[in-house]
Amino acid sequence: MQSDLFSASSEEAKAPAATQIEALRARLNRWAHEYYVLDAPSVPDGEYDRLYQQLEHLEAAHPELVTPDSPTQRVLGSVLSGLAPVRHAVPMLSIRTETDIEASGAQAFDARIRRELGLTDADPPVEYIVEPKFDGLAMNLRYEGGALVQAATRGDGEVGEDVTHVIRTIRQIPLILRGEDVPPVIEVRGEVYMRGRDFARLNERQRENGEKLFVNPRNAAAGAVRQLDARIAARRPLSFFAYGLGELTPPEAGGPAFATHHALLCQLQAWGFPVAHEVRVVHGAAELVDYHKYMGARRDKLPYGIDGVVYKVNSLALQRQLGYVTREPRWAVAHKYPPQEVVTTMEAIDVQVGRTGKLTPVARLAPVFVGGATVTNATLHNLFELRRKGVRVGDAVIVRRAGDVIPEVVGRVDDGTTRRPYVPNFRMPLACPVCGSAVVREHGGTDHRCSGGLFCSAQRKQAVLHFAGRKAMDIEGLGEKLVDQLVDLGLIHGLSGIYALQVGQLAGLDRMAEKSAQNVCEALEKSKHTTLARFLYALGIRNVGEATAKDLARHFGSLDALLAADVDALMQVSDVGPIVAESIRTFFAQPHNIEVVQQLQAAGVHWSETAPAPAARQPLAGKTVVLTGTLPTLPRDAAKDLLEAAGAKVAGSVSKKTSYVVAGAEAGSKLAKAQELGVPVLDEDGMRALLAGRA
Ligand code: IVH
Repeated sequence: MQSDLFSASSEEAKAPAATQIEALRARLNRWAHEYYVLDAPSVPDGEYDRLYQQLEHLEAAHPELVTPDSPTQRVLGSVLSGLAPVRHAVPMLSIRTETDIEASGAQAFDARIRRELGLTDADPPVEYIVEPKFDGLAMNLRYEGGALVQAATRGDGEVGEDVTHVIRTIRQIPLILRGEDVPPVIEVRGEVYMRGRDFARLNERQRENGEKLFVNPRNAAAGAVRQLDARIAARRPLSFFAYGLGELTPPEAGGPAFATHHALLCQLQAWGFPVAHEVRVVHGAAELVDYHKYMGARRDKLPYGIDGVVYKVNSLALQRQLGYVTREPRWAVAHKYPPQEVVTTMEAIDVQVGRTGKLTPVARLAPVFVGGATVTNATLHNLFELRRKGVRVGDAVIVRRAGDVIPEVVGRVDDGTTRRPYVPNFRMPLACPVCGSAVVREHGGTDHRCSGGLFCSAQRKQAVLHFAGRKAMDIEGLGEKLVDQLVDLGLIHGLSGIYALQVGQLAGLDRMAEKSAQNVCEALEKSKHTTLARFLYALGIRNVGEATAKDLARHFGSLDALLAADVDALMQVSDVGPIVAESIRTFFAQPHNIEVVQQLQAAGVHWSETAPAPAARQPLAGKTVVLTGTLPTLPRDAAKDLLEAAGAKVAGSVSKKTSYVVAGAEAGSKLAKAQELGVPVLDEDGMRALLAGRA
């Protein structure tokens, strides 16, 4: 009967309604499991929807056949007036947190386990199972006769709250266990959480509807779990990972027996629960340390939030032998990472002026250690974001710093009080705090801007820093400290002023010795020989990034041709749309911008012009090239510029789609990968031949 046809066969269509309904449910459950848990759908979404509707019709015609575990019954209609308390059959314990957050924390745990098991150095390493420590809420799911009958939060570990109506809406959680050998009673424990991407989308929706933003995925998940209305909960994208058991029918009463925690997780997976891919079985302290490091490095790339890893002794017999201390098992430990979110006080809000004049409110914070660094400032993005977060100077706020991302204030610590109406105690200034020019806001836009342009020293500083940047004119040594002084002392007024700087002027400045002054002047001289693409990018035209500058240079070949182009001509360039075209026109329509360009050229900035190159005639158009190792004469960036000018895309890693790998001295894994995949490998001469169209 379990044919793989998409819809009920004519045989089935003639069968009694009960049989048809049963067949449809089995098929829909299987597809939902493939889609939500395995991430590997075997049928198009439309096919699922079609059968789902068939089932709805049949159930409408036969209401007596509707059962609570039908896929149509995930969202229950009535709104609860409160959450009922649930006493846990088996208490929900917590895990002890290893206090040492360095790698040595893992060694301390292993040493303790070995001591408690009475092992000596001669005994083999202990086998552990290692798991992410998910940053969500613990949940107990009770199944009787294979059907989900109750879902409860942890609460105080003894008594939690009944949230079955919400948990039923999570499509990753089976309403009936899959497969055979389903025990009479089983409680599955795990973490309900919200994926980063789902959280971002939810907040995007809140923002569009002008509603309050959630501070982080954990809070959004916690709020959703306690929703009284299942229809609202169903719109909150929750997910689940299984990691353990509560009550289980014992083997003597017909329940299953597991030898290891790993075997248990495999069985949970077979019953239809999601188990994290990152779970591993490892041996001994060194491998615990490796896992801690491995997950620490992957942390920001995972689709879900973690605040550490969990080590568990894999053998259930050894777990029993180790037992419990008060409310914590001796056989498990949580090994955390430094927090990426902390609470601190927002002492003031300053306004910073960026390169394009954008005014950014920046929170001044009581210093806190977060994400591995001490943070005293954090961005609030813009006035509207600040209002939606509902923060005021003096508030206790949550500050987040994850990976390379700049620190941000995510929201106010929820102290249970709502402030209605919310009256911010910060206003955007009407005049630029740096130059006093009028502050404007584009109609309908969220950003406030200083209208002073290069008259504003803040914008001038940022413009010079951008101009000197590595991907722009690449002037080494012209950094923030130096530019601040040059602008503040009036040594440079516009961009071209930097080329008039003398060693003598620089040498007198703070942190500048004769030698470094000389180096800066040499770097200035060297930067004069550049490419049109770098020059265009360096000008800091709004909406013209590195890639667009390259496209423009390639397309027009010369600055004069670009200056002569109208909006239509600009839109001929790949990836240039009306907004970018308009920015370019507006920039070059300002006489003072043309003046700056001319002054720079007069100061000696030059590049070789090329014939306009329509994409198709470029020798390497459509090719992907990977650079690895050190080439004998060409620096990496120069090789990249040449390849891109010839139409190639320069990629960072080798795959089957790579056209060529250009390898120099000390080429490593990328070269090996190229050889393995049979990708042609060239040296510098080979690359030059290719560029000249001689290959
Ligand atoms: S095992 C007896 N495994 O951490 C041990 N817990 O204090 C029971 N958590 O709030 C917990 N990821 O929700 C276990 N892979 C994991 C976990 C995990 C997150 C949470 C759990 C509880 C806390 C334990």
